[in-house]
Amino acid sequence: MKNYLIVLFALLLGVSCGETPEKAPPAIAGKTWWKEAVIYQLYPRSFKDSDGDGVGDLNGIIQELDYLQSLGITAIWLNPIYSSPNADNGYDVSDYRGIMEEFGTMSDFDRMLQGMHERGIRLIMDIVVNHSSEEHPWFLSARSSRDSPYRDYYHWWPAEKGVPPYRYSLFDATGNAWKFDSVTNAYYLHYFSAQQPDLKWENPEVRQEVYDIMTFWAEKGVDGFRLDAFQFAAKDTTYPEFPEGFEKDFIQYYAMQDGLHGYLKEMNREVLSRYDVMSVSEGAGRNFEDAHMLVDADREELDMAYAFEGVDIPKYEGYDLDTMKEVFGRWDAEFATQGWLSIFLANHDQARMVSRWGDDRPEFRDASASLLNTFILSMRGTPYCYYGDELGMTNMDMDSISEYNDIAAINGYEKARSEGADMAAFMERLNFTSRDNGRTPMQWTDGPHAGFTTGEPWLPVNENKDRINVARQDTLPGSVLNHFRKLTRLRRESDVLIYGAYELVDAGNPDIYAYTRSLGDEQVLVLLNFSSEAAGYSLPGSLVPGNRLIDNYDPDAMAPLDAGTLRPWQAVICKLGR
Ligand code: NOJ
Repeated sequence: MKNYLIVLFALLLGVSCGETPEKAPPAIAGKTWWKEAVIYQLYPRSFKDSDGDGVGDLNGIIQELDYLQSLGITAIWLNPIYSSPNADNGYDVSDYRGIMEEFGTMSDFDRMLQGMHERGIRLIMDIVVNHSSEEHPWFLSARSSRDSPYRDYYHWWPAEKGVPPYRYSLFDATGNAWKFDSVTNAYYLHYFSAQQPDLKWENPEVRQEVYDIMTFWAEKGVDGFRLDAFQFAAKDTTYPEFPEGFEKDFIQYYAMQDGLHGYLKEMNREVLSRYDVMSVSEGAGRNFEDAHMLVDADREELDMAYAFEGVDIPKYEGYDLDTMKEVFGRWDAEFATQGWLSIFLANHDQARMVSRWGDDRPEFRDASASLLNTFILSMRGTPYCYYGDELGMTNMDMDSISEYNDIAAINGYEKARSEGADMAAFMERLNFTSRDNGRTPMQWTDGPHAGFTTGEPWLPVNENKDRINVARQDTLPGSVLNHFRKLTRLRRESDVLIYGAYELVDAGNPDIYAYTRSLGDEQVLVLLNFSSEAAGYSLPGSLVPGNRLIDNYDPDAMAPLDAGTLRPWQAVICKLGR
């Protein structure tokens, strides 16, 4: 009887007598799909044009669903596709339940969503509700009369009270976030451009409208929401004076104001908790405490933080690796046991990743792009990969302001000119930093307009499409694209890369970023040479590099890892131990 019980016990444990018991995988607390997701950020205006009007559209996305699936991504964050006069490329919404005409119809949307789901890809919608468009019917009514039922959907300052306390606008050519509107002799508030009046979240009717909109999309089956600029939504409606020069540190005055957490808890109760959706807010507040308050599970607000400190590191003048290690390490440590982060090096508000973080000269471009993708896909936190970065798309040269499309660039130019800035220096900087760099059409082929459109593209195609394009890279085993596909597979199949603890190795190395990820008995080592020269690293005796899991150089032609050197921009993930 006793032996029988032992055998039964062993069988229950999944081991048979005489064999070494297999190690059980470690139990992972808080496992969820959105922590395991590989998110692809898709800028619809620039992805694929199906009807020749020069603007990307939903049918274009549908045409490329197999490509998206081939990337091994599991979710897509789609920049706004709602009806919009496009003052800020869709971040000025005039109908939250309508599809922008240039992008297609609601039935195109339904087919796109179904096609994504059939391929195991979830869809995250961009919800833009810190502000609407000035052409939204709410605002058209609100501005028409002080008695409009929608008047209190927005922030107004009656002109009879004099000039309102100064508010800084991120996009306005004068820098002023209050715009005088003669129709009702009042000023309205717009933290972004004058075409984007801020919604008044303090009004419960506004909040209910937003929850209804979100419910509409959740009922359609979308899988998540990215809340645009939401950290700015709450405002002190007494509009107090801010100290002079506050705009240099405006986040301290604009972000996470009283009331915001209440709104998020309400949104969670009304919408988020009722569906299997993930939620991420753009910006993570003023400090770690704010970020935790947004996303710690027991707060019942949002799921993951999207903090800017990392992506903001590279400046026009460059950046140093120490800072990168320090910032990413600090955020990781802070979220090691509570909350969850997003990991990204680019998005539609930045110039191209390889031009900012890597070396986009032809001889280093592919290796550095692959290294940066390796970083994003090997850190703890949900990776966000920006369209085109799977190819190593780069910045492009735009010399004259007339070539730019972005409202931030155009109004920034006007502001600089009116302030008497050195405009040659301004243009040089803009050429490197402009958001338009990150929005040029996707490079599908080396053909006309890179296969993006048969018409005239809304933004010029980068000249380097001849080398950087999907068709070419698809056929090259070692291309940035195929390396990206290998990386996403590795990430998806590896709990240690998703959940494992992060620890920096060879900390003071000025060229090499090395770290381990550990989960239970499993450990991997990541070695990244962030320089355009060969560079050496040194590992503690306890860390002996083992089999390579992935390398952006041909592993057969490489020195063994225990030789302690990496080629320019070489990126390796390996096991430990021989
Ligand atoms: C943040 C978005 O990412 C950006 O593209 C937009 O211009 C502003 N919010 C205003 O909506």
